[in-house]
Amino acid sequence: MGNLGKFIVFEGIDGSGKSTQIKLLCENLKKRGILCRQTLEPTYGMVGGVLHDILSGDKKADPKVTAALFVADRLDHILNNDDGILKSINDGVTVICDRYYFSSYAYQSVEVPREWVIGANRLAAETLRPDATIFVDVSADTAMERISKNRDNIELYESFERLSKVREGYFSAFELMKDEEKIFVVDGNRPVEKIAEEIEKIVMEKVFSKDL
Ligand code: ADP
Ligand code: TYD
Repeated sequence: MGNLGKFIVFEGIDGSGKSTQIKLLCENLKKRGILCRQTLEPTYGMVGGVLHDILSGDKKADPKVTAALFVADRLDHILNNDDGILKSINDGVTVICDRYYFSSYAYQSVEVPREWVIGANRLAAETLRPDATIFVDVSADTAMERISKNRDNIELYESFERLSKVREGYFSAFELMKDEEKIFVVDGNRPVEKIAEEIEKIVMEKVFSKDL
């Protein structure tokens, strides 16, 4: 069997700059001859479709149901035979994923007890633990500023409050999981290129064990 691909996850509050950095990291890895693929959660698969309807307000669901759907979507993302993450990794492709279970720990724990959320994600964590989780950290203020540039109507105060809670949720989950997870917090309040440089260095050194 050939070499396995790595699994790298990006986390951050909405508008933190994750997608921007994922695209750059994938380009940078390809330049180094590393096969890589981008993916995201919620997916556009059978469970992910329902989640997108809930997030847009087209469908209503109890927060506990939403939390369970995120778990089901994640397991499908890991395991499905068409474009599942494990399949890519086994084919030697490095997978870079926009959000994974820390998103559930941070977002769903605002409304559902965190212990439940962590327990419900245990099978995902035991099946596929990231080689690195990169947290692009920006303040809720900065995130709101970036989001409002891209959208027409937004409930500013409510969203700001929620993003602040979510950011705190991330940090307390990182503290709780620091022994079993490889978490790297990068300062996302800098120019895009500076952040990309730091992330590439972390990934090459800590994931691929190559000094830059
Ligand atoms: P996310 O995927 O975390 O929601 P995006 O990468 O889509 O974030 O970025 C959100 C917005 O902020 C976009 O308009 C993007 O161009 C802008 N942006 C991303 N990174 C930075 C940065 N380092 N500085 C300023 N603006 C940024
Ligand atoms: P995403 O499309 O990545 O939004 P953004 O680009 O703004 O970061 O994610 C959609 C939303 O889904 C985001 O608000 C966070 C939420 N989410 C959860 O609440 N729990 C989860 O487990 C995941 C993966 C996402």
